[in-house]
Amino acid sequence: MSKVTFKPGTMLNPVPVVMVSCGNSEKQNIITIAWTGIINSDPPMTYVSIRKSRYSHEIISESKEFVINLVSKNLAFQTDYCGVKSGKDIDKFKEQKLTPIMGNNVKCPMIKESPVNIECKVKDIIEYPSHDMFVAEITAVHADESLIDENGKLQLEKANLIAYSHGEYFELKNNPIGKFGYSVMKPKTKKRIAKEKRLERKK
Ligand SMILES: Cc1cc2nc3c(=O)[nH]c(=O)nc-3n(C[C@H](O)[C@H](O)[C@H](O)COP(=O)(O)O)c2cc1C
Repeated sequence: MSKVTFKPGTMLNPVPVVMVSCGNSEKQNIITIAWTGIINSDPPMTYVSIRKSRYSHEIISESKEFVINLVSKNLAFQTDYCGVKSGKDIDKFKEQKLTPIMGNNVKCPMIKESPVNIECKVKDIIEYPSHDMFVAEITAVHADESLIDENGKLQLEKANLIAYSHGEYFELKNNPIGKFGYSVMKPKTKKRIAKEKRLERKK
């Protein structure tokens, strides 16, 4: 099959879409971010890439901390809004009726309505031509109690997280294809997992 070649671009898809909260009790803000990811496992490290022109760039450069708030389907509207309006002019928490709550290690508010909040401390700022990359260590993770099963296990699939692909928001339908390593899994293990899933669905 022949290919059509495009000029170089940010074609990596899908990517996460998250609401990043920053500031403090007097000056709070939320910015929607798609340029984010994990860069190290131990210690857990992440990054957010932000244009210098954003109000959040100014806040995070100064405070050196932020919270990544994961986004469920029911927060898609607020996520889009926080990605088109600047906190220079408005309080996005108030405008979108989002609740600021305190974390453990950072002074900036987390978003209560988000199912998972990831506290981050900035370790490095790497400047690139369009965006500055805020490299950060993850210092705490909080999840809604409703996502924790009776064995204390996080059931992230129940959070209805969304992703961003080629300019659009998509829900991650709860239709998993296979677990990590399923391509080399023994048939006996596959059967056991399928049985466990059937039982889980019946609950
Ligand atoms: C889906 C989506 C993803 C975005 N990703 C980024 C990003 O990764 N980096 C960035 O600087 N701006 C990104 N933006 C744009 C900012 O969120 C937007 O300019 C916002 O209004 C900035 O808010 P602030 O001025 O209050 O910081 C994104 C916007 C949307 C809608």
